Amino acid sequence: MFYEITFSPTGGTKKAADFLSAAWNEKTEIDLCRREEDFSQYTFNGEDICLMAVPTFGGRVPAIAAERLSRMQGGGAKAILVAVYGNRAYEDTLAELEDILKACGFLPVAGAAVVAEHSIMREFAAGRPDAADEEQLKGWSRKLKEKAEQGGPITFPGNRPYKKYGALPMTPKAGKDCGGCGICAAKCPVGAIPKDNPRETDGEKCITCMACVAVCPQKARSVNPVLLAGARAMLKKALEGRKENELFL
Ligand SMILES: Cc1cc2nc3c(=O)[nH]c(=O)nc-3n(C[C@H](O)[C@H](O)[C@H](O)COP(=O)(O)O)c2cc1C
Repeated sequence: MFYEITFSPTGGTKKAADFLSAAWNEKTEIDLCRREEDFSQYTFNGEDICLMAVPTFGGRVPAIAAERLSRMQGGGAKAILVAVYGNRAYEDTLAELEDILKACGFLPVAGAAVVAEHSIMREFAAGRPDAADEEQLKGWSRKLKEKAEQGGPITFPGNRPYKKYGALPMTPKAGKDCGGCGICAAKCPVGAIPKDNPRETDGEKCITCMACVAVCPQKARSVNPVLLAGARAMLKKALEGRKENELFL
């Protein structure tokens, strides 16, 4: 069986994973953003191939995705590791993902690093993965399928110990256009928005994944513009220019 397992708060990671899965005729999708799901129910075996795609958060695997992946039982299933990043750098994401998956019984065999629109500063890598990426990633899908079927060793870039996670805490807040529909509360991967009062956000729980901002039908949610301008100024240089996708076989 082929599985596409993604953590994709704003859809960029899912889009990349779909292109990289194009060579498989059938797939079962598992959504790591679903906080009500019991991920320990997922057990795999040596016949299975799992494409595991996560976004890079501060050069790392988002902690909640790491925790949910660790509950699965790999049972020797082959894993294709995908880091999706917003045009700065993916740093230790693939190395960390490799360690997480090996620790719960998966066998990493291949992978990719893919650029997608930056989910906080959307002007960077805007529209990516674009048509050129789509063609490239669908072409790579066939190669990934071949490698996954054959097996064989693989190494991923990244440092151990991993980079310390140090992203700015920027909790999105609801503005005056919020109609209180609660879609954001339902979609929040960590339950930081109360269903009965979606105008409140728990800053302790929030991971600034931007799912609530992306899903709001009123476009009523946003992060503090002053903090955002600071982050922009700090990261502008590192975020500029077109970065290329990478394939690991
Ligand atoms: C909290 C947070 C931290 C991020 N850190 C990085 C980073 O270190 N490097 C980078 O290139 N992009 C970074 N990004 C951008 C995301 O990796 C990128 O936009 C990704 O496509 C988001 O996935 P999604 O669209 O599936 O939500 C970050 C985004 C968020 C929300």
